[in-house]
Amino acid sequence: SIRPVILSGGSGTRLWPLSRESFPKQLLPISSARTMLQETALRVVNADYRAPIVIAGEDHRFFIQRQLEQAGVDVDAILLEPKGRNTAAAALLAAMWSLSRGEDDLLLLLPSDHVIEDHEAFARAVQGGIAAAEQGGIVTFGARPTEANTQYGYIEVSDAVGVGAAHPVKRFIEKPDRAAAEDYVNRGGHYWNSGIFLFKASALAEEAGRHLPDLVSAISESLDQQSTDGKFVRPERSAFERAPSISIDYGIMEKTDRAYVVPVDMAWSDVGSWGAVWQIAEKDANGNALKGEIIAIDTRDSIIRAEGTVTVAAVGLERMVVVAVRDAVFIAPIERAAEVREVVERLRKEK
Ligand code: GDD
Ligand code: MG
Repeated sequence: SIRPVILSGGSGTRLWPLSRESFPKQLLPISSARTMLQETALRVVNADYRAPIVIAGEDHRFFIQRQLEQAGVDVDAILLEPKGRNTAAAALLAAMWSLSRGEDDLLLLLPSDHVIEDHEAFARAVQGGIAAAEQGGIVTFGARPTEANTQYGYIEVSDAVGVGAAHPVKRFIEKPDRAAAEDYVNRGGHYWNSGIFLFKASALAEEAGRHLPDLVSAISESLDQQSTDGKFVRPERSAFERAPSISIDYGIMEKTDRAYVVPVDMAWSDVGSWGAVWQIAEKDANGNALKGEIIAIDTRDSIIRAEGTVTVAAVGLERMVVVAVRDAVFIAPIERAAEVREVVERLRKEK
């Protein structure tokens, strides 16, 4: 059976000012009344799965615990990173911790900040990846690319016959430049990496041993001196901090020859900007996604959110983002909403 591993890291950049460092987007309700963490966990609470493991930063532990309790999700454990060391470390922590308990489960690595609308397609795709993962493959789930987005990993499929619904990967390219991305989209034969992975704990540990030996020794030492407090598991800090900070995509997927991809059409979005939130949101007759105390006059195709006691009044807007919280307001054309990254960078420098 499959053990879900929910990644709840993140820096709270893309949906600023609603998401913050202290409160990243997975802890917020973005696409429904539930938070994205709750939606992610509930997607894997059924007979196909064992109780999930959550991997998160120390600072978020009580929010995470409370949100999962409220959703009625019984977690297996919450592994607390003393410091974020990116996704290769988080994935390997889950794998090596499982192995240290004498379990070599299939692990399903899940980002907690994505929206998946077609739950059945998701469930079928995971089932389709099991055979390849059981044989030691590292299985990715590929979405059909619709534009030359440079913020995604691209997966080139090989012509070789796959295992079940999983096809061998010819090449994995993380965040290519624009020209390469355009080429992949035009040429076809490439998928976007959805950021969800299925593998046996031992398979990931072996591949990490091959490509990231320093990471393996740091994680292994941090687990040798781990401490446990109820469901919280803490790897030892100084050993964990020695782990090189690299993503699973650059660190393992670009290098391994054991990668597979299950193509899947599950209405997936990584909600990477306010524009993406507008796209998936329910909109009124004027194409507006409004949340909070809002007066909108002659306003179209916009996303406006007012938190708490703030009232936002808009006149004559078209394709705009307005997000107002107690101490900050973000305003931009929808097309340029992703540039919020630069705002956050500047704020961090000034801090
Ligand atoms: N626990 C934990 N610790 N979680 C982390 C950490 C960490 O140190 N770093 C990142 N995460 C979580 C994030 O919260 C997110 O849910 C997920 O891991 C992926 O990290 P991102 O930083 O959002 O990666 P990305 O969006 O740049 O790229 C990845 O996702 C794309 C799809 O959205 C890659 O896998 C790409 O190849 C992929 O296309
Ligand atoms: Mg992401």
